[in-house]
Amino acid sequence: MAGRLEGKVAIITGAGCVGPGWGNGRAECVRFAEEGASIFAVDMSPEPMAETLERVAVVGGEIETHLCDVTNKAQVDAMVEACITRFGRVDILINNVGGSARGGPVEMDEET
Ligand SMILES: NC(=O)c1ccc[n+]([C@@H]2O[C@H](COP(=O)([O-])OP(=O)(O)OC[C@H]3O[C@@H](n4cnc5c(N)ncnc54)[C@H](O)[C@@H]3O)[C@@H](O)[C@H]2O)c1
Repeated sequence: MAGRLEGKVAIITGAGCVGPGWGNGRAECVRFAEEGASIFAVDMSPEPMAETLERVAVVGGEIETHLCDVTNKAQVDAMVEACITRFGRVDILINNVGGSARGGPVEMDEET
């Protein structure tokens, strides 16, 4: 049976993991690849993406890695361009990189 994401291209940010084993981003890369998506894996550092590459290879998935700090707009614009250059399209965006700060949308300043 064909995977549910056959022919789709997914940008997944935070595709590495801060420690060994599984993080959300790494798991999403592998699971989406299992369903047939082409993965454009994005992280700000190359080291944690090596294990993600290995794990996607184990399931026979297609993956391209790209370095980008997603807090930098120019780098995010370049990320999208690089994905389109490599795969010709973007179907799915997983904005996985996150962080925590106290307060709600009303109390937080715009930069946060
Ligand atoms: N793993 C969990 O069980 C869990 C549960 C609830 C919430 N979260 C939150 O979800 C988010 C993602 O989780 P995860 O497990 O994939 O995270 P993680 O902490 O394992 O990090 C994933 C990757 O994000 C990269 N990264 C960090 N800042 C970046 C930036 N500015 N630009 C590009 N890459 C960057 C890191 O280099 C790392 O390889 C985090 O905010 C985390 O707090 C995770």
